[in-house]
Amino acid sequence: MLDTPTPKSDLFVPPRPKSMGPLSALLRAGITGDSNLIGLLPKQAYTMKIGNLGYSRRSIVIINDADKVRSILTDPTDIYPKNDLMVGALAPLVGDSIFVSSGDTWRRQRAMVSPAFSHMKLSSAFKSMQLAVDNYETIIDEKAKHGESFSLDLAMSHLTADIICRTVFSTPLKGETAQEVFNAFTIFERSVAHVEIRRLIMDPAWSDIPQHDHVLDACKRIRTQLGQLVDDHLKENADFEDIAADIILAEDKETGEGFSRKELIDQLGVFFLAGHETTASALTWAFFVLATRPEIANRIRLEVSEVTQGESLDFQHIRNLHFTRSVFKETLRLYPPITFIPRVAAEATQIGNRKIKKGAMIMIAPWVIHRHHDYWENPDSFDADRFMPEREHEIKPNTYMPFGLGPRVCVGANFATIEATLILARLINRYDFEVLEPEKVRPVARLTTRPAEQIQMRATRRQT
Ligand code: HEM
Repeated sequence: MLDTPTPKSDLFVPPRPKSMGPLSALLRAGITGDSNLIGLLPKQAYTMKIGNLGYSRRSIVIINDADKVRSILTDPTDIYPKNDLMVGALAPLVGDSIFVSSGDTWRRQRAMVSPAFSHMKLSSAFKSMQLAVDNYETIIDEKAKHGESFSLDLAMSHLTADIICRTVFSTPLKGETAQEVFNAFTIFERSVAHVEIRRLIMDPAWSDIPQHDHVLDACKRIRTQLGQLVDDHLKENADFEDIAADIILAEDKETGEGFSRKELIDQLGVFFLAGHETTASALTWAFFVLATRPEIANRIRLEVSEVTQGESLDFQHIRNLHFTRSVFKETLRLYPPITFIPRVAAEATQIGNRKIKKGAMIMIAPWVIHRHHDYWENPDSFDADRFMPEREHEIKPNTYMPFGLGPRVCVGANFATIEATLILARLINRYDFEVLEPEKVRPVARLTTRPAEQIQMRATRRQT
């Protein structure tokens, strides 16, 4: 039967770094030289509840204890702001916007931004998502016709960037301005967001991060282009129904004031930054798993046909695609796009019995917690059924956090889940996918959790 769960003994274990002791893991990270923080994690990280990453000048504390993770991420006293290393790296692109800000500034921004992601708004964004998928199918059709291989990673980045451009600014990615933003963003991502292990280990807290000129130049270009898109929206007769229009109309409840033009560029830049690479990362891993395990892909096809009954896939259908969504959720468990959620201790404090120095880096690692042996049965196996309604209650509280936890949980979580469910259902229904050289696939933590080298794949159009 296609719709029966895979027996536990046949579950697929997708690629992960081999478990090693601390010294071997450090050597491995040095040898592979690809700044891979996942490879630096010793096997003990997956069984301990709290511990120090021993070999750094700055104190780095890994927290796996579910209750402590929740209390850190929901702490109301602003003692654990976003980590300074990350804030410094992102500031030239997104200023002091919602993703990096703290305290009252963040509270004001969050209250103004959240309504743009309400359920009602998402149902109108869905139409733009559908158009982007229609367009992408014509691109894959061409490749399928000629048996041409393509980079799965790039395909997913293009598709999700197109969706962000259409839903935020009502322009497709092939528009000149949108394409310029995408290209400059790629430069920014490659250089600045590459976590430098040396810096993490050697630098004291709150060190200044000098940025390379070409990175600053890329940020300037992105902001100029975003400014143009904002100005189009600010014109007197402008009549847009998109996320940018909602953010422009947002008002501070106390003062009645909206965002300034600079703040608009900051906030909308965040949607581009946080809203496409993350989803692209998760989809890359999901398609890798589905291409490798056709029986899981077949269960998606069966579900889509049962739910849509031959109609074209619509917003109302999405909530009933339980298995397809579970595949997405299980992918987010094994390959959380935001590998680490770093914070900094703004003052000396205590977590449990452990004294924490001012400036210590507090590492909450979805990658580790999602594979922790105390919380998950068969932690490294792909088992989408864990997230089906009949089993979801087995998941322990505060152990699953691909979108973060507490007040700073991702504002785009529902957006991303709807988007990914749509893309998986549509593309899996239309194509068979084959990964070329699957044995080469190895996850690394960059700006998001990525394959060390791009995954090459081929698509074949299915007979329907
Ligand atoms: C699979 C896709 C996504 C994943 C895994 C993801 C993950 C996350 C995580 C873990 C955080 C919290 C970070 C922290 O606490 O330090 C976050 C915050 C955020 N995300 Fe997402 N995200 C995704 C998609 C999106 C999308 C589509 C958007 C917008 C279009 C978005 C916008 C944001 C924003 C604005 C924040 C900052 C929220 C705040 O601090 O108040 N994300 N995301």
